[in-house]
Amino acid sequence: MITLMHISCTEDRPRAANAHVADELHAGLNAPDAWISPKFLYDALGSKLFEAICELPEYYPTRTEAAIFARHGAEIARVAGLGSTLVDLGAGNCAKAASLFPLLQPAQYVAVDISTEFLCDALERLRQRFPQIDMEALGMDFSSRFELPPQVHAARRLFFYPGSSIGNFTPDEAHGFLRRLRAQCGDDGGVLIGVDLAKDKATLDAAYDDALGVTAAFNLNVLRHVNHLVGADFDIRAWRHHGFYNAARGRVEMHLEAVRRQEVHWNCGGQACARVFEPGDCIHTENSYKYQQADAIALLERSGFEATRVWTDPQRWFAVIHAQAIH
Ligand SMILES: C[S@@+](CC[C@H](N)C(=O)[O-])C[C@H]1O[C@@H](n2cnc3c(N)ncnc32)[C@H](O)[C@@H]1O
Repeated sequence: MITLMHISCTEDRPRAANAHVADELHAGLNAPDAWISPKFLYDALGSKLFEAICELPEYYPTRTEAAIFARHGAEIARVAGLGSTLVDLGAGNCAKAASLFPLLQPAQYVAVDISTEFLCDALERLRQRFPQIDMEALGMDFSSRFELPPQVHAARRLFFYPGSSIGNFTPDEAHGFLRRLRAQCGDDGGVLIGVDLAKDKATLDAAYDDALGVTAAFNLNVLRHVNHLVGADFDIRAWRHHGFYNAARGRVEMHLEAVRRQEVHWNCGGQACARVFEPGDCIHTENSYKYQQADAIALLERSGFEATRVWTDPQRWFAVIHAQAIH
């Protein structure tokens, strides 16, 4: 049986990419329409840049979701239940979950993130603030397979998936991911998920292409990360950020565009691979699907959950949904 790799905070962390990561990057860089998965946006610097994005006036999702938690936290806790095993998916700096600890009073807090170094630092600080809560950090990629290790309590698992990260998956991938959560949550578990709702193009364009250029730096950092992971030689100055709402596809897209001709090399399975990018060639780095509330609920229901309650902001820009596992 193949078991999923998690890295705990006390282990030495691998410095280079494992074969699976290298294969995935190679496949994307070599594809006719080049792509890099958005999960590679997050190394330690990428996680810090994302924190900075959350402070930007243009980036409404974080503050809108936080306002929903602030306004409806007590009711969210009543519906979701106290004393759960709170599994925070893509926990980042763990701030959103921590803001709910006093209300949710989790029996165990499990923070999961691919950006292991950043996660471990965040969890260390959290342990000092909440010494009474049993905490685990799992450095892992949950995008294709998801299996929690035995140290995660089996009872009353509440999967916390804020920030509309579900939007980084296509609807089909999101369905597969939610099915895997359903398989891991037993019959007494559920999800508490934040979903960004469809809205006007100007608001979305600004949110993913801010005036200060923080989102541009966040997107460009993926090339720095890929250089590190597979010994590539991307010249970051030779690429430009684009972030815009594609209304026909119902998603924000982020791309990097080559500003001059260049040959990029990387290590693929011990061999040197290369690709020429012409000016105007793009690498697709992120999708962020925007949902209609009814479609988000239908997706949860197709995946083995029943929506019990939805909370939104007055503009109906963002929804927080609690859904219970069903048989
Ligand atoms: C948009 S940020 C959200 C951070 C935080 N939960 C929030 O709502 O502000 C996405 C987070 O998910 C993590 N992440 C992205 N893809 C992942 C994957 N495939 N496996 C594990 N973590 C992932 C990133 O490192 C990042 O911390």
